[in-house]
Amino acid sequence: MGDSGESGRGRVTAGGLVAMKKRGEKIAVLTCYDYLFARILSESEIDVVLVGDSLGQVVLGHDSTLPVTLDDMIHHAGAVRRGLRGPMLVVDMPFLSHQVSDEDALRNAGRVMRETGAEGVKLEGGGASVRDRVRVLVGSGIPVMGHLGLTPQSIHGLGGYSVQGREKEEADRLLREAAELEAAGCFSIVLELLPTALADEITRSIGIPTIGIGAGPRCDGQVLVLPDMLGLNPVFRPRFLRRFAELGEAARDGIAEYVRAVKAGEYPGAAESYEG
Ligand code: KIV
Repeated sequence: MGDSGESGRGRVTAGGLVAMKKRGEKIAVLTCYDYLFARILSESEIDVVLVGDSLGQVVLGHDSTLPVTLDDMIHHAGAVRRGLRGPMLVVDMPFLSHQVSDEDALRNAGRVMRETGAEGVKLEGGGASVRDRVRVLVGSGIPVMGHLGLTPQSIHGLGGYSVQGREKEEADRLLREAAELEAAGCFSIVLELLPTALADEITRSIGIPTIGIGAGPRCDGQVLVLPDMLGLNPVFRPRFLRRFAELGEAARDGIAEYVRAVKAGEYPGAAESYEG
């Protein structure tokens, strides 16, 4: 707890999320990339806001997360920080910002924390080098969220956006990696595109919260990409995605009505104009 968010509750912390898991309280997470949506999210009961490197596709128009740079992440995370009050702010470490060496990872994560006011970073993957990075960052006071399953920064190695962990050997590896990330000091782990039973087994096998996306209902929390769940991205329709609003349609209607009103000479009216 600490200063109060717009929704009136205290600040969410890494320790608070672990306590939520212990109490069996579900954790709600959404991504965000800008100031205006950060303000809207601050009025909700959302627990964590993630500036994801999905920024690459949903904001910058790339076809993967690979082109996203550390400077892109810092630019957008800074805007989110200026609008966000209450939820914990976590920022993705983009491709090659943490894979090269411990020193590089610490320098880059340090920039994210110092220049954006983030309260944690997220690293993809579960191999030995990722665990070393987690230890170094956590040892330096930087809370780290892990990310297992479909890890988009490795998309070319994985061979496509498909459900992971269907084979026993791979499922066993993911179970082991989740335990190792917890031991390395992660405060939570995103599980992306896993069968429900495997995500459930991982969730029950570790003491830190799992946050699922396409990993079924038994994770400790859920995360979605904000423009996708608000219906702003008409072409993206995976099975796991529920659209909670249709803002794309509302935006199209509003823009069409504006164009009509301007062309008809109806906008601006007298009440929208300054006399004298
Ligand atoms: O980049 C992102 O938005 C993410 C979430 C989907 C977890 O990593």
